[in-house]
Amino acid sequence: MAGIDYSSLIPNNVSLHENRRLQRALEDWQPKFLEWWQDMGPLGFQAKETYLRTAVSVDAKGWAQFDYVRMPEYRWGIFLAEPEPGRQINFGDHKGQPAWQEVPGEYRGTLRRLIVTQGDTEPASVEQQRHLGRTCPSLYDLRNIFQVNVEEGRHLWAMVYLLDAHFGRDGREESEALLQRRSGDADKPRILGAFNEKTPDWLSFFMFCFFTDRDGKYQLASLAESGFDPLSRTCRFMLTEEAHHMFVGEAGIMRIVQRACELMREHKSDDLRKHGGIDLPTIQRYLNFHCSVSLDLFGSEISTNAANFYTLGLKGRFEETKKTDDHLLKQATYPVAELDGERIVTRDEPALVSLNERLRDDYVADCARGVARWNEVIRKHGIDFELTLPHRAFHRAIGSFAEVRVSPDGRIVSQAEWDARHRDWLPTEDDKEYIQSLMQPVVEPGKFASWIAPPARGVNGLPVDFEYVRLG
Ligand SMILES: [Fe+2]
Ligand SMILES: [Fe+2]
Repeated sequence: MAGIDYSSLIPNNVSLHENRRLQRALEDWQPKFLEWWQDMGPLGFQAKETYLRTAVSVDAKGWAQFDYVRMPEYRWGIFLAEPEPGRQINFGDHKGQPAWQEVPGEYRGTLRRLIVTQGDTEPASVEQQRHLGRTCPSLYDLRNIFQVNVEEGRHLWAMVYLLDAHFGRDGREESEALLQRRSGDADKPRILGAFNEKTPDWLSFFMFCFFTDRDGKYQLASLAESGFDPLSRTCRFMLTEEAHHMFVGEAGIMRIVQRACELMREHKSDDLRKHGGIDLPTIQRYLNFHCSVSLDLFGSEISTNAANFYTLGLKGRFEETKKTDDHLLKQATYPVAELDGERIVTRDEPALVSLNERLRDDYVADCARGVARWNEVIRKHGIDFELTLPHRAFHRAIGSFAEVRVSPDGRIVSQAEWDARHRDWLPTEDDKEYIQSLMQPVVEPGKFASWIAPPARGVNGLPVDFEYVRLG
């Protein structure tokens, strides 16, 4: 595979120089992106040299290069995974036909909406995390959040490339709009709920990377199955970057859990707030919140949109090609959790309209594996406490459970019980204030805030006390 063309203004492996119209559209968008980055990207660190990885090829054996770079000078580019010769559409009504290299006219609007919805999440998370650099628990973590931020910026580029290359004027207008919406803005909010929530502290940030970036993984993975080949190839490469974001989340929470356990042992007490730690019940409440808002991102349990995306060949299932059924699903059923009066029951529903729920199931299983690894840390410290995922019906705003109050263990509760107990289940004002009080920057190389353990190893084989960001 050819590496990335770094000689042009926009690094790419899509032979951009052969398409002057597209090249001009993207070169016209680039300064607007940079303006957005200056306005909404990490506050206060734009001039600092940060040790970042940059994609330099799409080779599975080594696609990244690490070096110091000032973030506005980061080489955001357009990289698609290698084409699979003879690739076919693998599911839905067009199954067996050659994958589309151009947008099928009749699916134009639907496909554009799918791409815009994914694209909108990328800049949103950068906006949500804009202030966190100033309260970093270490230089190592500071570097990691910036790595995540520049890659979300690149993911925006990835989606804008598809819009500009394949959707003409509508696509260019959508590309502009992606830079105009703002996370949490009353007039021009981001499209999806979780991307309008605040990420006010690092506990929330790590939870966001674990739960919300993981939603990204599952959405990208099902778009990677798309019959629209450029979308598939784009998403396949994005997934390699996404893995690091989830690592940041999982390892971050694990280090907070580890620190909590160390403090509990040291002080023979559960009350860690005296000792500058984050106690496990507080971690559980943050987990409950971030898990539930991320579950909403998968949409309604029963969805004709999801069925259409599948039948039209636009969005597949997670690991579609590894499944051995007919990939049409017209006769199949799938068990779906539903509300039945005062009870939550599981019923078999037509598989096509249940695809959101199926993807949510894949996601929940993946989350559970991470939680088990956190519990392993707790167990090794000999502490009798288990973190758990909340029931899928807990604290939902979308789908059949939005109408009811449900406890984290999956009981439908009265409004009175909810009012009396939700402080045990979701972060309280007290929790938020305490976590906020911990958010004091630690920027000496190799030093870490009181509430988080150091990582087992540094970035790219470097020591933990490496100067990951030159604050000068
Ligand atoms: Fe992303
Ligand atoms: Fe991400």
